[in-house]
Amino acid sequence: MAKLIVEGGNKVKGQVDVQGAKNSALPMLSATLLTGDESVLHCCPQISDIDAAIRILRYLGCSAKMHNHTVVVDSSGMNRYDIPENLMRKMRSSVVFLGAIIARTGRAELYFPGGCELGPRPIDLHLDSLRKMGVSIDERFGCISCKVKDTLHGAKIVLPFPSVGATENIILAAVLAKGTTIIANAAREPEIIDLCDYLVRCGAEIYGAGESTIIIYGVEKLKGAVHTIIPDRIVEATLMACCAVTGGEILLKGIITSHIESIIPLFEETGCTVTIKDGNLHLVCPQRLKSFKYARTMPYPGFPTDAQAVMMSVATVAQGTTVFVENIFESRYRHVEELTRLGANIKVANKVAVVEGVDRLFGTKVSAKELRGAASLVVASLRAEGITEIEGIKFLERGYENLEVTLTELGANIRKV
Ligand code: UD1
Repeated sequence: MAKLIVEGGNKVKGQVDVQGAKNSALPMLSATLLTGDESVLHCCPQISDIDAAIRILRYLGCSAKMHNHTVVVDSSGMNRYDIPENLMRKMRSSVVFLGAIIARTGRAELYFPGGCELGPRPIDLHLDSLRKMGVSIDERFGCISCKVKDTLHGAKIVLPFPSVGATENIILAAVLAKGTTIIANAAREPEIIDLCDYLVRCGAEIYGAGESTIIIYGVEKLKGAVHTIIPDRIVEATLMACCAVTGGEILLKGIITSHIESIIPLFEETGCTVTIKDGNLHLVCPQRLKSFKYARTMPYPGFPTDAQAVMMSVATVAQGTTVFVENIFESRYRHVEELTRLGANIKVANKVAVVEGVDRLFGTKVSAKELRGAASLVVASLRAEGITEIEGIKFLERGYENLEVTLTELGANIRKV
């Protein structure tokens, strides 16, 4: 099993081009199914979740090729509507193929994505919404069989919670459905806007992406398109965290500042200086950080749950107390135990984690349990004295493209063995 060996203490310094957003690329790869045509997606990250999505596309009969960071998908040959259990289990977000498969073929057969490292992740909002659009759904033995009863039609859907995945599945189904779909309390994440930008290039009629109400007028047909995926805001937060804990200085190139507006103030509170110019973010970090007091995860534009773990690593070495409240997922503190092994002082009670900053962390063996938790261990290890061995890096590789190579280029002492 591969692991990371990190010797902490080096400053993270230099400039980076940030990888494309995983959470944009995944629903977009699903959306390519709707066109029955060739699409070209630039800036696609080379990560294992994308490999899993490409495998699903090929299983469905599409041709999908990745060259450097460009994926070319030709979905004209699509000849299946099912995704087998082993492919579904590779990646929970494979459920985002549901809406597109139904819209393209009128049917879909998927397995429940299965247990998740973040606690229960039901898909009831996805299924209820599709039912409103004329899909009959049968759930038996872990399999979800969907069939369009008469026609796939538009509907007014009020989401009880702005679920990212449910919003995406509704959009994917609605663009080819008959009539108008209105999603109220839609998720507003930048990745939803990116998905809609791609779909509009394909000929879809979507209004209000990025707002709470999205209106979609179904069209008869879509064509392929060329699109460039937005930069990954969570990778940006992670690199900033790596820089902050080491008192470094970093230039993130080509970012979209508005996407990390809820994250930048936390770094400023720690005493870091953030300057943004021409789409580049310059971060200069002091030797000793101050705590940022409070981070509450919320749907976008609030502070993202995906950045909670890496910011917690920053808080572990910041002077003072920081309180985290995790409002999105039930079980998203699995990194706490491992950070504690490195010397962090963190107490958890239900949704709340209280971090008392310490002066020093000490390297030891730790084990990642999920993607962002894995990233938090990398952040902490860069600060820890001595050697940290991080196991479970398959989780890291789901979302970060060669993070150890990027960090080595930035001066860190980190290698994969
Ligand atoms: C997406 C992101 C993930 C991020 C999350 C929240 C992708 C591929 N993944 O996940 O990185 O952490 O948004 O920003 O884009 N829920 C239900 N029923 C449902 C759907 C969701 O109860 O049918 C609950 C979930 O259990 C969770 C909350 O809603 O507690 C948020 O989930 P959701 O926004 O759907 O996250 P994902 O789309 O799974």
